[in-house]
Amino acid sequence: MKPRLGILLSGRGSNFEAIAQNVLSGNLDCEIGFVFSNKPNAPGLARAREFGLPCGSIPSAGIERTLFDSQVADLLIDHGVNWVCLAGYMRFLSGQFVSQFSNRILNIHPSLLPAFPGLDAQYQALTHGVKITGCTVHFVNEDLDSGPILLQSAVPVLDNDTVESLSARILVEEHRIYSEAIAWMLRGNYRIEGRRVIQT
Ligand code: GRF
Repeated sequence: MKPRLGILLSGRGSNFEAIAQNVLSGNLDCEIGFVFSNKPNAPGLARAREFGLPCGSIPSAGIERTLFDSQVADLLIDHGVNWVCLAGYMRFLSGQFVSQFSNRILNIHPSLLPAFPGLDAQYQALTHGVKITGCTVHFVNEDLDSGPILLQSAVPVLDNDTVESLSARILVEEHRIYSEAIAWMLRGNYRIEGRRVIQT
């Protein structure tokens, strides 16, 4: 049976869509088992419906985090999901969820971590004045944007960049390296030593 990805998103879903295109074209040898959003109106969820993928939403308002996450985990497990990809999922995951999918949750972040974690990473990079930024695919642990790093791609910051122009160039790299990292992870030829993800 092919590996089954669960995609968690809260918004636009362009990273989800790039992954879905690679699954459809056979570049990624896996299936998308479920697309989940904590936002019922997320455009990414509408795209998942258009793709005919199993998808759904649980609004998070007023539900305690561990309970909410256990409902999400149940949904994913019911759909045979064994790998989780965060694609613009704007929620912290509970420790319980992280340990349920231990070392099987990936995230993409629009900076070269550990620089500029958290929100508005492109704005942070631009206002800090760095000349190079980029994006990072990393395993998810219980802390924000801080798990072991699988892949990174560097993007120059140009003198005339705005947050929008810089974000757009980083996004091209995000779409490329996220699927590359998933393919690597699914091949399983890596080991994690401390914070280092080493190719085997
Ligand atoms: C991306 O920039 C990603 O790095 C960050 O959230 C954004 C999501 O964009 N985690 P999209 O919804 O995949 O288009």
